[in-house]
Amino acid sequence: MDESSNLVDPHLYPLRMSFRDALGRFVSHPRVNEFQTRLLGRSRLEAHLNPVAARTFAALPVGTVVDIGGGTARSRSMWPAEWTYYSIDPDARVLEVESVGKPIERLVGDASALPLPDNSADVVLMQCVSHHLDDSIWPASLTEANRVLKPGGSFIFLDGVWRKRRWFSRVFWRLDAGHYPRTSGELERAVAKEFHILETDRFNVVHHSILLTAQPLP
Ligand SMILES: C[S@@+](CC[C@H](N)C(=O)[O-])C[C@H]1O[C@@H](n2cnc3c(N)ncnc32)[C@H](O)[C@@H]1O
Repeated sequence: MDESSNLVDPHLYPLRMSFRDALGRFVSHPRVNEFQTRLLGRSRLEAHLNPVAARTFAALPVGTVVDIGGGTARSRSMWPAEWTYYSIDPDARVLEVESVGKPIERLVGDASALPLPDNSADVVLMQCVSHHLDDSIWPASLTEANRVLKPGGSFIFLDGVWRKRRWFSRVFWRLDAGHYPRTSGELERAVAKEFHILETDRFNVVHHSILLTAQPLP
């Protein structure tokens, strides 16, 4: 932004910037994220997600799931204790948050460079994360999800979408720590570059949301 056009006293810029930084740190705190996800209808999201997960582990009683941007690892509860669960998140503050009673492998890392070998996961989950990824990271995160998935593995993607006409959803996006909500068409097209989409589930919570189940393209 052009600071010369700003009406705020230039001496106050550092103060304003540090307030913005502090606010940014606050809204992105894992506990605040968790509260926000609950407010945005976490239980409704889980009602759609749980049957997809249940189908996967019914066919595969022991496996490995990688939760990209796993945050406080709430999604651990969906997977059997016998499954190895990795939560990968760049925010080291999630390490301070208690686990949910099943083993968790927490790794500090970025969606665009997953600290895991090729073909090592049966499932990759990306839940409520894509809107945190700018255009320099979002496509790379899908390439990484593809890389770590075993052939025939499952990619499970869920996020709220940007809908201009859904005004209350727009208000919540303004308050979100993630600044890159995308339309469902943009999300689907990006996922389809790396994956064969098997199922699409669309539903409204606060945001219109999209749940995709997909397999890696060779
Ligand atoms: C709204 S929270 C969702 C947490 C979890 N997936 C859930 O559904 O409870 C978004 C998470 O994405 C993480 N995140 C932000 N940028 C990321 C990146 N570049 N790579 C991986 N995760 C990222 C944040 O640290 C945060 O934990």
